[in-house]
Amino acid sequence: MKNMYRILFILASVMLCAAEPDQNKFPLCKICTCKFDVNETTADVLCAAHGNYQSIYQDYFWKLNATNESVAYNSLAIHYEKLTNMTNVFPPSNLTVLDLANNNIMSIKDSIFKNLQNMKVLILSYNDLDLIHPDTFKGLYLEARLLPLRSLKELRLDHNQLHTLNKDTFEHTTDIEILDLSHNDFQTIDRHTLLAISGLPYLKKLYLQYTGIKTLPDDMLHTPRRLQILDLSGNIGIEKIPRTLRQAINLQELYLNNTGFVNLTQDNGFPNMPSVRVLHLCRNELLHHVGRHSLSGLTNLTDLRMSDNIDLVTIDDLALAKPSKLTGGAIWPPIKKLYIGNNKISYLESEIIARWDSLSELDIRENPWTCECENQWLIDDLMPIYLKINEDMAKEVMCAAPVEMRYFSFYDILMKKSHMRCLDTYGNRPEKDGTLLVGILAGVLLAIPLILFILYAYKQRWFSLAGYFDNSPASYSRRFYKSTPHDEDI
Ligand SMILES: *[C@@H]1O[C@H](CO)[C@@H](O)[C@H](O)[C@H]1NC(C)=O
Ligand SMILES: *[C@@H]1O[C@H](CO)[C@@H](O)[C@H](O)[C@H]1NC(C)=O
Ligand SMILES: *[C@@H]1O[C@H](CO)[C@@H](O)[C@H](O)[C@H]1NC(C)=O
Ligand SMILES: *[C@@H]1O[C@H](CO)[C@@H](O)[C@H](O)[C@H]1NC(C)=O
Ligand SMILES: *[C@@H]1O[C@H](CO)[C@@H](O)[C@H](O)[C@H]1NC(C)=O
Ligand SMILES: *[C@@H]1O[C@H](CO)[C@@H](O)[C@H](O)[C@H]1NC(C)=O
Ligand SMILES: *[C@@H]1O[C@H](CO)[C@@H](O)[C@H](O)[C@H]1NC(C)=O
Ligand SMILES: *[C@@H]1O[C@H](CO)[C@@H](O)[C@H](O)[C@H]1NC(C)=O
Repeated sequence: MKNMYRILFILASVMLCAAEPDQNKFPLCKICTCKFDVNETTADVLCAAHGNYQSIYQDYFWKLNATNESVAYNSLAIHYEKLTNMTNVFPPSNLTVLDLANNNIMSIKDSIFKNLQNMKVLILSYNDLDLIHPDTFKGLYLEARLLPLRSLKELRLDHNQLHTLNKDTFEHTTDIEILDLSHNDFQTIDRHTLLAISGLPYLKKLYLQYTGIKTLPDDMLHTPRRLQILDLSGNIGIEKIPRTLRQAINLQELYLNNTGFVNLTQDNGFPNMPSVRVLHLCRNELLHHVGRHSLSGLTNLTDLRMSDNIDLVTIDDLALAKPSKLTGGAIWPPIKKLYIGNNKISYLESEIIARWDSLSELDIRENPWTCECENQWLIDDLMPIYLKINEDMAKEVMCAAPVEMRYFSFYDILMKKSHMRCLDTYGNRPEKDGTLLVGILAGVLLAIPLILFILYAYKQRWFSLAGYFDNSPASYSRRFYKSTPHDEDI
């Protein structure tokens, strides 16, 4: 039986090998790993840690002997080689993707990519670059352009040691649409860096997360008007929305995870940005309060992620609503996806968004919900909707207070059709009433013989009692209630 399997296995391997395309058509596939398209006309090559990287620049790997045509590589990825100082010019090729991530690259000689005029994507992530000479990306002559790398649309320089860019860095690559500069310790976008980035009129996606910056310079986004995605996450120095965001009139997605906002207010909040659809405001450790109208400039927002903010206690009921001058009322953005899980929210007003039933995704789990009558709408109105949106998530929403409700889920309460208790008149938490009631009871029990005694004494006219009767237990408890701090209203 075992032998049978072995024979089958060998047969299968032989057949697979037979199906392999002629490696002479793709010489690099002799030393690297290749994937081919269906018709085996192009190859995607992956060379990882094979150690003999110098040889791969030889014509042998790039040119077909019979015709002198360049080998039809579609993409080439080289990883885990010590490329340190790159000096070899890549031979002519029609490849569209060159991925040089993770190669300890420290420097790149001028113009080494000039023969890769079909290259759309160049990835230089996870290297040791601290300087990029402006002629690094110099290409070949083209009329009306300055020696361009004419096809380059996407350039990834993330996870390097850049702290500034020469102002001419992108003068040969002006068509760049995607620029990733994240995880470089820029600290500030200085004048030269500003000139380099703001000279990219076709920029659509800009990644600046974890760059240590505190803001963006004014007017930075004036030229890149087509910008659609901006990621500023991980810059904990950002405490207010940079002014230049007003100029990003086509911005659709804005990411501000792990930034420095404390209280989001109308002042440090969002200007009118009707094009923005997606906002991420997660893992902001200091974010405490999302104030009135702080998000109302985002009138077209459909996807709001505001989760994992460990100190976020309140979201104002009018945080998203925009006062309407026409009707005197307010208008709400058309939210479809709302993520407010794993915050510190215990109460939520139903007015925060306009239509809970038009949500397609919702996460409110992992918040210390107070299961009292003020939140009754969460059970009665929201839970039936939530169960339709995502039954599993809906069933995971738990009460955190009052103590006797802990470990109950919203779903339990919904199934029992129970009404949650209300705060008493003075805003005390009912679970604290226990001791109070015992106190009052003890007071009453003590008071009865005392009153009887006093009445007896009064009858006996031992002394005058006017003015002492108001020390009744009721008045005592009233004063006690009043002096208890009002800890829920903020
Ligand atoms: C593969 O070849 C067939 C016929 O030669 C052609 O119709 C098809 O478009 C090719 N597919 C690709 C991805 O080039
Ligand atoms: C191409 O020709 C040269 C000599 O002209 C030879 O050394 C080389 O091995 C040939 N390459 C291939 C892939 O056949
Ligand atoms: C390929 O190019 C070399 C020199 O670059 C030339 O000697 C040779 O004749 C060419 N071969 C063909 C098939 O064109
Ligand atoms: C490379 O691209 C050029 C034009 O873009 C084309 O003429 C040539 O045939 C391509 N070469 C290969 C090997 O695909
Ligand atoms: C690369 O260049 C730097 C300075 O230009 C030099 O110090 C270093 O030794 C070079 N590394 C290699 C492996 O050649
Ligand atoms: C944030 O708001 C809370 C009340 O909502 C206030 O106590 C606190 O001082 C505010 N913090 C800052 C930095 O404005
Ligand atoms: C807002 O969204 C609507 C519908 O998705 C769209 O037609 C409109 O152009 C958007 N407004 C802006 C300013 O992008
Ligand atoms: C922001 O953080 C949340 C989770 O905290 C994550 O789901 C989301 O993908 C992050 N957004 C970006 C752009 O990294």
